[in-house]
Amino acid sequence: MFSLRALTTIITSSAALFSLTRASPSVERRDVWVPQILYPRTNIVWKTGYRHNVTWDTSSQPEQITNPVGSIQLRKSGSTFPDVLQEGFQLTDGRVEITVPDVTPGCGYQIVLFGDSGNFSPEFIIASEGD
Ligand SMILES: *[C@@H]1O[C@H](CO)[C@@H](O)[C@H](O)[C@H]1NC(C)=O
Repeated sequence: MFSLRALTTIITSSAALFSLTRASPSVERRDVWVPQILYPRTNIVWKTGYRHNVTWDTSSQPEQITNPVGSIQLRKSGSTFPDVLQEGFQLTDGRVEITVPDVTPGCGYQIVLFGDSGNFSPEFIIASEGD
């Protein structure tokens, strides 16, 4: 059985370890940052072949970003398209230009912004260039 003294030592050292961990957040801590996409907005229409800036909110960025480099893909009905529309940009930029790919026109498209994590835009519409 533990003596009271041994138990006290265990509690004291775990408390010390805990405060040590808490005291040095900048050494190891990395924050997962999922910036909110501001554009495209809900139900706007993008035409295939046109260029647009995807923009996102950079105001909430943490000090340490796990992965500061972003990439963008398209998504519809719960599936992410394999084509990468843009990559290698800094998440801190808050925007990146993409060309709307030649996909089947329709609604319910979303932009996925990958970095630390994946974040989806609201659903928007892609129309063919001739429409
Ligand atoms: C995207 O934003 C940049 C910087 O504001 C601007 O120079 C560029 O023309 C924009 N592109 C489009 C397609 O609007």
